[in-house]
Amino acid sequence: MSKTALVTGITGQDGSYLAELLLSKDYVVHGVVRRASTFNTCRIDHLYRDPHDPEARLFLHYGDLTDASRIACLLERVKPDEVYNLAAQSHVRVSFDEPEFTANTTALGTTRLLEAIRMTGLPCRYYQASSSEMFGATPPPQHELTPFHPRSPYGVAKVYAYWITRNYREAYGLYAVNGILFNHESPRRGPTFVTRKVAAAAARIKAGVQDTLYLGNLDARRDWGYAAEYVEAMWLMLQQAAPDDYVVATGTSHSVQDFVECCFAHVDLDWRDHVRFDERYLRPAEVDDLVGDASKAARVLGWEPTVHAPELARLMTDAELEALRHGDPGTLSAVPAPARHQPAPH
Ligand code: NAP
Ligand code: GDD
Repeated sequence: MSKTALVTGITGQDGSYLAELLLSKDYVVHGVVRRASTFNTCRIDHLYRDPHDPEARLFLHYGDLTDASRIACLLERVKPDEVYNLAAQSHVRVSFDEPEFTANTTALGTTRLLEAIRMTGLPCRYYQASSSEMFGATPPPQHELTPFHPRSPYGVAKVYAYWITRNYREAYGLYAVNGILFNHESPRRGPTFVTRKVAAAAARIKAGVQDTLYLGNLDARRDWGYAAEYVEAMWLMLQQAAPDDYVVATGTSHSVQDFVECCFAHVDLDWRDHVRFDERYLRPAEVDDLVGDASKAARVLGWEPTVHAPELARLMTDAELEALRHGDPGTLSAVPAPARHQPAPH
């Protein structure tokens, strides 16, 4: 009997890789998609088959984490064995502009989903997409017992979501886990996160369709891993005998400037000729240094990363070059082109 999974945030970076992984393991996958006036399924279109096709194993449903009755209804209908809650307003800078929406989706949305699981009484396992952003100002290396000191409305919302997940585990005996994932990137990364923005700009400048890249703080340090590998850790967490929380990271640290240098050097450009500072990309409070200690995940889950930041920078830049070669204007092409209007800096 194949298992059934319900994935919120399936249209996002991680959702698309997780859907691929689960389908490869013969799961039936149900994804929750927000209704938008434009299509937002480009990261999973390659996985989709018409539901009338007897081979179809991926099914999409409209839903939103701000809509509790819809979530309960979907759980009742799908009766999943595993629930992966990846949906969030996930952009740290945007969370300063939209703190209330961020809290509603990222924090309260988690409660809505957990409460729906509790009320329906389904014996499903629950994965919560927790974040290294929760550690915020606490110095590295950060591990499962490191105190949280969030520095953004997003980080605060994720701390709430982390604790409500633990609370439902302790109070109601739910099999609920927190994956505390450090930054993970890929060619499918949202175009306003720094790695994708930089990789895309390096490729576009090389191709002669962009001249300048504006960035904020180049000194921040991050532990960047590869998203396609991180979803494997999510799945492993739900296959254990008992629920627990795990840090997932590479254990290596690079600055934003290091990442910029890697991407530009990969296309034989000197980043100093093209990168300019713009204070609009600074945050009201910054997270200076994140480096994860994922030894528990290695020991218990047998999970270890193989891709580190320099290789990630190269593979992301190559993907952007490839997309430009094919004239792909979609999600895999990238940067907000200068002509494309952006409501706020990111
Ligand atoms: P992402 O690309 O921004 O995807 C977020 C997903 O959430 C999208 O599918 C989005 O839908 C959906 N979503 C947003 N608001 C929603 C709402 N109100 N109701 C239902 N769905 C909603 O993020 P990601 O990088 O894949 O990250 C996945 C999860 O891991 C997030 O919870 C993020 O906070 C967390 N996380 C990410 C990282 C990282 O480095 N990537 C690290 C730690 C934790 P649309 O496509 O319609 O926008
Ligand atoms: N986005 C962005 N844009 N960041 C910039 C820029 C810019 O132009 N210039 C410098 N940065 C710096 C930010 O100030 C931050 O220190 C760093 O680059 C990384 O920024 P992001 O790529 O936006 O990621 P993040 O670390 O803030 O948040 C991501 O990782 C978290 C895990 O630690 C997101 O994926 C979160 O959802 C995730 O939880």
